Amino acid sequence: MKKVVLIAGDGIGPEITRSVTKILKTAGAEIDWVECLAGEGAYKESGNPIPQDTLDAIEEHRIVLKGPLTTPVGSGFRSVNVSLRQEFDLYSNIRPAKSLPNIDSPFNNVDMITFRENTQGLYIGKEHWADEGEHAESIAVVTRTASNRIIRAAFDYAQKHNRNKVTLVHKANILKLTTGLFLEVGKNVSKEYPDIEFQDLIVDNMAMQMVLNPQQFDIIVTTNLFGDILSDLASGLVGGLGVTGAANIGDNAAMFEAVHGSAPDIAGKNLANPIALLFSSLMLLDYLGETGIRNRITAALYRVLQDQKYVCTPDIGGKGNTETFTEAVCAALQY
Ligand code: NAI
Ligand code: MG
Repeated sequence: MKKVVLIAGDGIGPEITRSVTKILKTAGAEIDWVECLAGEGAYKESGNPIPQDTLDAIEEHRIVLKGPLTTPVGSGFRSVNVSLRQEFDLYSNIRPAKSLPNIDSPFNNVDMITFRENTQGLYIGKEHWADEGEHAESIAVVTRTASNRIIRAAFDYAQKHNRNKVTLVHKANILKLTTGLFLEVGKNVSKEYPDIEFQDLIVDNMAMQMVLNPQQFDIIVTTNLFGDILSDLASGLVGGLGVTGAANIGDNAAMFEAVHGSAPDIAGKNLANPIALLFSSLMLLDYLGETGIRNRITAALYRVLQDQKYVCTPDIGGKGNTETFTEAVCAALQY
């Protein structure tokens, strides 16, 4: 039994983690979930959005499956997600976006994976007032070392999985030092992978290209904020945040989570789509080397989408709910 920390999270988190752990159990995954608190729920209970017990458990087990956590806008505690990524140096945020059977989208055959640098850029949250109430400033940090490791992670993944192209996204025409450094490192690293095509695009052009012709993209690597935005865009190309998963991987720890938030508008209504967190859990199974179980769950999910779309949640055009979907996938795993 492999021990994995499970943070159900806020809003729809408990509903979708219940669904996903049930599907994994039905598929025969030998995982011993260590349940821990974080987020708004933990904050209300203990005054701390990341209790020490949770940090200790992650420190010990080093693998986490996490539901969405509510982050207050503007004030209040800092994003727990961002803190966990920094605390455990989870520098690769990996977000696949792949077309699915029977999911309504104007785009077919999309299959791209964004590698987003997860520890630096504008996301470090270093802001201050230069003139209180009038003039605010924000600092972006890009280092050669951090750029190098995320770009290498993207190329290594491409090589290992027979992907043939890496697109680096930047804004080096304007942010010449920060994203210019990222681009320079990318050009250097690409020389070590002569079999993989390398391309660089400026972020605004990239956004347009992704909508005009998304099939041209394979692996994308970029800085933190651009990756945040473009990976949501990529999710939109294949059916939305309800159907795309994500991994945060470092050298010594990994955290798997859905891309979407805690969806307070539908929390507790049995309407949440568990597919995104299910995809994240498939990345977790990959990480654990359980590719057989991962493939069986993927096949069961595809069968349900293809033949029983009506059991799925309304956000993807189904007439069912969280439970009918979960039951259908568990049933599909039996044959
Ligand atoms: P959201 O992703 O929670 O919701 C956006 C829209 O998508 C809503 O209409 C929601 O009902 C729908 N939606 C999201 N996930 C769904 C699912 N699995 N099934 C069906 N519909 C789904 O984004 P929003 O409203 O901007 O954020 C709500 C809270 O979540 C905020 O506190 C935010 O900070 C937090 N958040 C947390 C994230 C994380 O923990 N990784 C990521 C993004 C936001
Ligand atoms: Mg985001």
